[in-house]
Amino acid sequence: MREPIRGPVLVLTGAGISAESGVPTFRGAQGLWRTYRPEQLATPQAFRRDPVLVWEWYDWRRGLIGACAPNRAHQALAEMEAALPGFTLVTQNVDGLHQAAGSRDVLQLHGSIWDLRCPACRYETTNRQTPLPEIPPRCPECGETLRPGVVWFGEPLPAGVLQAAWEAAKNCSLVLVVGTSAVVQPAASLPLVALQNGARLVEVNVAETPLSQYAHEVLRGPAAELLPQWWARM
Ligand code: APR
Repeated sequence: MREPIRGPVLVLTGAGISAESGVPTFRGAQGLWRTYRPEQLATPQAFRRDPVLVWEWYDWRRGLIGACAPNRAHQALAEMEAALPGFTLVTQNVDGLHQAAGSRDVLQLHGSIWDLRCPACRYETTNRQTPLPEIPPRCPECGETLRPGVVWFGEPLPAGVLQAAWEAAKNCSLVLVVGTSAVVQPAASLPLVALQNGARLVEVNVAETPLSQYAHEVLRGPAAELLPQWWARM
């Protein structure tokens, strides 16, 4: 059953929303780099063991993403933000494509691949160069190896961002979940918190996920096609 949008809206996006822009998803067939899975590289341990390898992977991803443009699903969400009061966009993506599409307030749960930061002196910068001139990049303040400004497996999420996402989940009347396998915590819990608080759940995904069984409406197919259609009907 379709219902008009009433009340606050929370949108949670994952790698699937950027798939049609050409960004490989993590758990899809193209998620592998060389022979590595993201879980083997996106960890503090992997970075300590071999920062060059980890940076080569990020440099490759930055190159890929830098050549990608936002698609119609990103654009639909930017339109929703402009049109709906009480709209919150939470993304697990680090690609910056929501902002490139015009979304202004994006809660980036997992940080940004364009940010670099120093684990020693807390220096931070945004850098869109691809490829990076030096791997690993060094801190201009103290010479330490910089790290990507993303959240790795086993690391806490930025507290303020997570808090804002929880608040939105508790208060929304509609939660729209787009292109996430909904297996990585704590992001995967946000739609469940919304559901427990009485929200309606709409899922957009090409495949079934652990959330599908709870959805009031499932849009089964590519986000760049189905999300703008759904929004146009609202
Ligand atoms: N349209 C909609 N959904 C799609 C599309 C598409 N065109 N293509 C793929 N999908 C769906 C897949 O079916 C899958 O459910 O997108 C989801 C992508 O899942 P993952 O690769 O697991 O990505 P995500 O859910 O964002 O991963 C969460 O895990 O690796 C970590 O930190 C990383 O943020 C990431 C987190």
